[in-house]
Amino acid sequence: ISPLPSPHPPPPPPQVILTQDELKKIAAYKAVESVESGMVLGLGTGSTAKHAVTRIGDLLRLGKLTNITGIPTSRMTHELALSVGIPLSDLDSHPVVDLAIDGADEVDPHMNLVKGRGGSLLREKMIEGACKKFIVIVDESKLVEHIGGSGLAMPVEVVPFCWKFTAERLRLLFEEAGCLARLRRDGEGGEPFVTDNKNYIVDLYFERDIGDLMVASDRILRLPGVVEHGMFLGMATTLIVAGELGVQVKNK
Ligand code: 5RP
Repeated sequence: ISPLPSPHPPPPPPQVILTQDELKKIAAYKAVESVESGMVLGLGTGSTAKHAVTRIGDLLRLGKLTNITGIPTSRMTHELALSVGIPLSDLDSHPVVDLAIDGADEVDPHMNLVKGRGGSLLREKMIEGACKKFIVIVDESKLVEHIGGSGLAMPVEVVPFCWKFTAERLRLLFEEAGCLARLRRDGEGGEPFVTDNKNYIVDLYFERDIGDLMVASDRILRLPGVVEHGMFLGMATTLIVAGELGVQVKNK
């Protein structure tokens, strides 16, 4: 005999609102499912990548992963990886990296990225450029229609020597896009922010679309004084996005 329907239907389950950090963790844990024992791993930098590094450390401790070699993309990640027990190496000893997992500041529909608001873009680009597979992990707030169009910084690493000259040349390159070039500092009016490679960062802000990204990339890299920029074009092989409606995985 089936029970009589209750005159009071049960209330819907409470809607769980996840914090941005919880979403970052979900994306990071999903990416770590692709890690296999014996891999050489590029370890990203930032508040999202931190969850992946910690998770890899946990799995090593539990014996679920063995023989992992990590290549950290920053001094900060170097410290974190050591603290969670990941054996480390570098590109000189391991020029081919099996898999890198890292966050991003912006991701467009073609999986082009802006990275470097955390200041580690040069080592990230070197290591992620040496990877067979590069998984980008983000919460959905990082998705944009056009790279550079969010009004947030597009970082460019420059040598400290005559940085004002280089910043002005960068601004002039994108004058038609209403570019503003600002030296990154440690706090308002503080000392210049210094990267792990002892360089400075000039953040570019655009009022209008910068057009073809490959052309923009070439123009920036041709300027003497520029070391690297934060556009990662065509490098990501997988994108993992965590949002309120779940996790989406997109492959190239
Ligand atoms: C650091 C980076 C980071 O990956 C990027 O800034 C995203 O950081 P977060 O995960 O903290 O949002 O490029 O140079």
